Amino acid sequence: MKKILVTGAMGQIGSELIPKLREKFGKENVVAVGHHKEPSLEFKNAGPFEMADSGDKEALRNLIEKYQIDTIYHLVGVLSAVGEKNPNLAWEVNMNGLKNVLDLAVEYKIERVFWPSSIAAFGPTTPLFNTPQKTVLEPTTMYGVTKVSGELLCQYYFVKYGLDVRSLRYPGIISWKTPPGGGTTDYAVAIYYDAVANGSYDCFVKEETVLPMMYMDDAVRATLELMEASKEKISIRTAYNLTAISFSAKELAENVAKYIPNFKCTFTPDERQKIADSWPKTIDDQKARDDWGWSHQFDLDKISIEMIKNLKIK
Ligand code: SER
Repeated sequence: MKKILVTGAMGQIGSELIPKLREKFGKENVVAVGHHKEPSLEFKNAGPFEMADSGDKEALRNLIEKYQIDTIYHLVGVLSAVGEKNPNLAWEVNMNGLKNVLDLAVEYKIERVFWPSSIAAFGPTTPLFNTPQKTVLEPTTMYGVTKVSGELLCQYYFVKYGLDVRSLRYPGIISWKTPPGGGTTDYAVAIYYDAVANGSYDCFVKEETVLPMMYMDDAVRATLELMEASKEKISIRTAYNLTAISFSAKELAENVAKYIPNFKCTFTPDERQKIADSWPKTIDDQKARDDWGWSHQFDLDKISIEMIKNLKIK
């Protein structure tokens, strides 16, 4: 039986991945680990919940021993925009936490580890379109620096210790359960929140800005499929390129207007424009498609319909 520990439980991905893992493996077998936000009662009652800082190796060790953990999803991370405001924090949280998890995973012979990378691993010198799996990685954000360093660290632990650690370079993820927080791709989430609440949105990137994006359901499924794939299928030990669709901020606004009549979008770029401009516009994820059968299901219309429907209920 799998015994799974998930850090960053209250974050954008954690809050949606955990219910899916519990559905699959049984709620008692998935330990959610938060670190600063008190969870809702609903979340707390849904299965084992613990508070621990992933920078605190002994706290993690105690949890691994207490629950006899064999699989870890280490999702804690400071995102790009917050990371530019506080680069030291981004380095500490993103690197120390990962190093602790990898070291403990070797020590306790953890079967599989997942850690998220991002399109932020790319930078202004990376090919902008159809970005290949193996390409230039010279990010100009601290978040991106921690993603490239983390990818190399994961690969090192695989080569050196045989640790089965797997990773994805997530594009911007669009979801409705947690409010947007700290990322550059957040405009593609915030636009739906504001459209439903106020009928208008002031977007913080220019209308011609194009970035790769994905709906949360696809991102969760990609994560589970990668983690379920047999070992021989995994040929990338840094992180797999992964994408669904790319669109401009203007196309996004027009699509939202299709479903919310009279929706108005203005564009007032701020410091996050520079970050967005440093990332690729489209991604070649053929390797993920070939190795473990990745394919996305949500296009922009489907995303808008789901986002608006769920946010209206929320
Ligand atoms: N969504 C992240 C961000 O914008 C990128 O991985 O920071």
